[in-house]
Amino acid sequence: MGIANAQPVNINIDVANPGAEINPAMWGIFFEDINFAADGGLYGELVKNRSFDFPQPFTGWMPYGNVTVTKDKKSPFDRNPNYVRIINGGERTGAGLDNEGFRGIGIKQGESYRVTLYARNPSDKPQKLSVQLVDSDSKNPDRVEFTIEGKEWKKYTGVIKASFTDQDAKLRVDLQSRGEVDVDHISMFPVDTYKGRENGMRKDLAQALEDLNPGVLRFPGGCIIEGNELKTRYQWKNSVGPVENRPVNENRWNYTFKHRAAPDYFQSYGLGFFEYFQLAEDIGAEPLPVISCGLACQYEGDEVVPLDKLQPYIDDALDLIEFANGPVTSTWGKVRADMGHPEPFNLKMLAVGNEQWGPIYPERLEAFSKQIREKYPEILLVGSSGPSASGKEFDYLWPEMKRLKADLVDEHYYCPPEWFLSNAARYDNYDRQGPKVFAGEYASHDYDTGKANNWLAAMSEAAFMTGLERNADVVRLATYAPLFAHVRAWQWNPDMIWYDNLNRVLTPNYYVQKMYANNPGTKVLKVTGNDGKAFIGQDDIYASATLDEPTGDIIIKVVNTSNMPKEITINPGNKYTTLTNHGSMIISNNDLKAVNTFEGENVKPANLSLASQGAKGESITKDTKLRLPAQSFSLYRMKAGK
Ligand code: AHR
Repeated sequence: MGIANAQPVNINIDVANPGAEINPAMWGIFFEDINFAADGGLYGELVKNRSFDFPQPFTGWMPYGNVTVTKDKKSPFDRNPNYVRIINGGERTGAGLDNEGFRGIGIKQGESYRVTLYARNPSDKPQKLSVQLVDSDSKNPDRVEFTIEGKEWKKYTGVIKASFTDQDAKLRVDLQSRGEVDVDHISMFPVDTYKGRENGMRKDLAQALEDLNPGVLRFPGGCIIEGNELKTRYQWKNSVGPVENRPVNENRWNYTFKHRAAPDYFQSYGLGFFEYFQLAEDIGAEPLPVISCGLACQYEGDEVVPLDKLQPYIDDALDLIEFANGPVTSTWGKVRADMGHPEPFNLKMLAVGNEQWGPIYPERLEAFSKQIREKYPEILLVGSSGPSASGKEFDYLWPEMKRLKADLVDEHYYCPPEWFLSNAARYDNYDRQGPKVFAGEYASHDYDTGKANNWLAAMSEAAFMTGLERNADVVRLATYAPLFAHVRAWQWNPDMIWYDNLNRVLTPNYYVQKMYANNPGTKVLKVTGNDGKAFIGQDDIYASATLDEPTGDIIIKVVNTSNMPKEITINPGNKYTTLTNHGSMIISNNDLKAVNTFEGENVKPANLSLASQGAKGESITKDTKLRLPAQSFSLYRMKAGK
C-alpha cells in the first residue's frame, strides 16, 4: 500500500524542556457494580443469593422436597435474617436445593472450591448434609459431606475438587439423612482467588486489573451510589464487617433498561469498602470512593434529602475517612483493623455525588465540603459537572465547582468516535487556575455497530487521550467506563473487560488503556507538527509525548486514524540526535470494526520494531522516515542519545 502524504509529517518533541508534572495516578479504572461486575464478576462468590435475603428468598435456588425459608429470633445474622429449613421425611424426592449461580456456575477441572455454610440441627441425631457440584448433564460426581450436630449455629467449611469443566454447573445442597437441618449463608469460592484471599476476587479478572497498572481506582459507582431511591443508595457502612451480616441491597441496574432487565440483580456487599480499599492497595492504585450526597439518582426520581437532614450523610463521609485513615483506636479505624488492616489505607481523595445536577447539588456539596475540609483539610474533594460533557447543566456546574473550590471536577462523556477525534483539543484552553479535571467516565460509542468494543472506538479513545496527556497539568485523572460486563448478564455496553463464567475477553479499549497506564511518564513534553501546533488530527495524526524521569525514557504516542499509512519523522530537538528503541509497541488493524472475542484477540499490542517501520535498525535520527501503518496507535518508548 502507498502512503497518504507526499511530505513526511514531522513530529517535533522538545525533549530538552520538560513541562508539567504528570499525576502518577493519572490513568486509572472505574469500578461499578453494573453488568454483574461485582456479584457474578470480580467478586469470587459462585452462589447467588447465598443468604436467602433477596425479596423473593428462593431467587437463584431450586428447592426440592420439604424446604422452606424462614426467619425468627434464631436467625444467625440479624441483618440477613432469612435461613432455610430442610426436612427429609424419607420422601422419594429427597430434600435439598440447587443454586444456579450467576447465569451458571463456572467450574474448572482440577480446581478446588471452598464451600462455607452455617447450619444447626434441632435434634440430637447427627444429620448428613452433602454439598455437590452438578454439571450441565445433571451428573454430580464431586462433593463434600458435613455432619451437622448441635442446636446452635456453627460454621462448616470444606473443599470440593472438581473433576469436570462446565460453565453451567450448579451447586446442590442435599440432606441425606432423615431429619431436619437449618442452613444459612451457603457460599462457594474458588480456593485460588486473587492473592489467595478467602472472600476474594476472581483471579483472572483481578489480574487483568493489576496488569493495567492503574493509578487510581474509583468505586463503587456511578449511579449505584445514588440508588434508584435513597433507601437503596450504596451505604458503605453496610458493606464492612463480617460478610454474612452485610445486608443485601437492590442493584440500581436491575430494571433500568427494560429490554435487558435483570430481576435477579442484587448486591451482596461481599465486595465491600474494605475489599475495594484492599484491591486498590493490591493493584497499586489510589483509592477514590464516591459517596451519596443526599440525592437519589436524578434520572430515576426526585428524592432529595433536605439540608437540615443531611448530617447523617455527611457523617458517613467523615466516618469513611476515619475508616480509611484513622488510628486503630478510633471507632472506624478499629473496624478496619478488626477486618485485618491495622495500617491506614492512605485515602487522599473523596468524591461527593456522581452525576448530579441543578442547584440542589452545589447546596449539598457545600455542606459536605465545609465539614470535611474542617476536619480533614488534606483530603481532595471531587465534585460533579453533571451527566454530559457540555450543555446547560455542565455550564452551570463548572462555575459552581469553582466557587466551592472543588479540587477536581468529574466529567463524563459517552460519545461517538467522531466526538473523541474532534475533541482532542478539548483541554488545551481550560482554565489553569480553577479546579483540576477528572475524566471520570468516558467511552467511545460506535452506534453503527451497536456500540461494539471495536478498534474504531479504541483508536478514537487513544487519539483523544493524547489530548488528556498533553494537558496533564489540568487533567489529573482519567478512567474509562464501565469496566466489566458478564456476557450473559450485561445491561450497558461498551465495557472494557468482558467475561463468562470461565474466561475473559480483553477488548481493544483495554489494551489502549494498558498501553497508556504502563507508559505514563512523569513530565509532559511539548510536541508540534510542521505547522508549529499540537497534533489534534492534522494529517489524521494525534500525538503526545512524555519524559519518564526514573528511566530517562522518552515516550511518544502517535495515532494515525487514516486508512492509509503515513510517513513521519521524529525530531527530539537540538539537545539529542538519536532515539533508540526501548520497549515500543503498536496496535494496528485494517478493520475498524475488528473486535476481540473468546475465540481470539484480533486487536492487541505487538512489540514495535523501528525497522518494521522502515528504519535501518532500532535507532533513528530526526531525518529517519518511519512509516506509520494505517489505523494505528504507535507507542515509541525511546532512549535519547547525543
Ligand atoms: O457507567 C455507567 C453509568 O453511566 C454510571 O453509573 C453513571 O455515572 C453514568 O450515567
